Amino acid sequence: MACFSLATQPSPMAMRRAGLLGRYFASPFRLLCRQISVEPQATVDRLKESGLLRTQGLIGGKWIDAYDGKTIQVQNPATGDVIASVPCMGRNETTNAISSAYNTFSSWSKLTASERSKCLRKWYDLIISHKEDLALLITLEQGKPLKESLGEVSYGAAFIEFFAEEAKRIYGDIIAPTIDDRRLFVLKQPVGVVGAITPWNFPLAMITRKVGPALACGCTVVVKPSEYTPLTALAAAELALQAGIPPGALNVVMGNASDIGDTLLESTQVRKITFTGSTAVGKKLMAGSASTVKKISLELGGNAPCIVFDDADLDVAVKGSLAAKFRNSGQTCVCANRILVQEGIYEKFANAFAKAVQALQVGNGLIEGTVQGPLINEAALEKVETMVQDATAKGADVVTGGKRHSLGMTFYEPTVLGNVNKEMLISRQEVFGPVAPLMRFKTEEEAIQMANDTNAGLAAYIFTTSMPRSWRVSEALEYGLVGVNEGLISTEVAPFGGFKQSGLGREGSKYGMDEYLEIKYVCLGNLKGT
Ligand code: SIN
Repeated sequence: MACFSLATQPSPMAMRRAGLLGRYFASPFRLLCRQISVEPQATVDRLKESGLLRTQGLIGGKWIDAYDGKTIQVQNPATGDVIASVPCMGRNETTNAISSAYNTFSSWSKLTASERSKCLRKWYDLIISHKEDLALLITLEQGKPLKESLGEVSYGAAFIEFFAEEAKRIYGDIIAPTIDDRRLFVLKQPVGVVGAITPWNFPLAMITRKVGPALACGCTVVVKPSEYTPLTALAAAELALQAGIPPGALNVVMGNASDIGDTLLESTQVRKITFTGSTAVGKKLMAGSASTVKKISLELGGNAPCIVFDDADLDVAVKGSLAAKFRNSGQTCVCANRILVQEGIYEKFANAFAKAVQALQVGNGLIEGTVQGPLINEAALEKVETMVQDATAKGADVVTGGKRHSLGMTFYEPTVLGNVNKEMLISRQEVFGPVAPLMRFKTEEEAIQMANDTNAGLAAYIFTTSMPRSWRVSEALEYGLVGVNEGLISTEVAPFGGFKQSGLGREGSKYGMDEYLEIKYVCLGNLKGT
């Protein structure tokens, strides 16, 4: 354990040993006035003191237990320790959360855009001023390294800031009439109550990417965060209340996923479902939305190709592929799932890439230097194992890694598999773990054909120094996001979403607003009358 207080201010060397210097370089003021710790229990205590460790659902501005008193435990995936218990809610609590959102819609949607924008801006400021506490919470319940969690808080907050600004830019249209005593207008109005179902891999950013535009447009929201990571959602909701977002505009329920999901789907008061998660669940939500014809946006699974051409800059390709593959230990929908390498550069790339992968430090995300945390749970670990076993049984070589990590729990060794082919499960399904399968190709046409040979279409990456090839291949790829010579491309200002079975609609950017707006045509007639 490393724990410092103002009374015994640590030397830079002591802080470096405890893994905190990088964090406090960014925030020297806090260095002087905060007690900090990397020991999990002390971290929980610190969060309690800051008032951000909320352990009840939020309905109509009130913190609520499950009506039957049932709870679920939230565990730290790096240690197995229970961090807290939260209510295991179901149909009744969800129905009340929907009513509360529905009742608040009439007042929230009637505020001016500028008033809504100010609340969102305040929420953004509060998230940023609690950046370190939120990051600790993310690492505790999700497992990602603290540095990545800090990055997620900045990324997540940026959606609130961006949409606070976009709130003021919801424009309509005036259309030239076809009859001279008429005037034709297009208004954009909020869809109504939104049900937002969010995943565990980005406990904050996937909420803000949905709730930011929804609130900016004048919608109200019922959020169901993942049962694995509800604490970050609850902390964000606490800050929303502090920011003056009115009670009932943002509600949070968690627990029995199918009961909560069904209640949201069946309700005629919920006009929109937004979901990030697996393609299988997305299809169920799409089918379930049909009976009440809800607007729906889905951000589903990917099978991202990362194509390294012979003419790539080797260092750029290694660095970019590493980032695209190993962010969040491979647990993102945009993680490279297949690394396609042209035969002329294959050996050189495989060697340099494997060396970089071997250098990735695995461990508890609270510890300095960790760049790979645990997987979220045992099922995720077993899935990775099954896919690696399937690939090796069908002829893939283990270049590095290939088994559970000696740290135990759900840690898996950062792995590179060579000579993977399309018969192997790992080339057809998302592995969602720290395993990089390398596949060979000969020509540009073959690479494009291999890359597009999947039902998924979220993200793709290419590495080449040829400008014409960058354009040709970007245009030919059937994917919603393409990174050229870059492995980390997500940002609040650009549209995020997939082709094919990777989803519907776009999040982030100006396009992300449309998902929460209805278009209304108004015909003003008889202008020649009195
Ligand atoms: C995801 O994995 O669903 C989100 C990744 C991102 O926003 O970059």
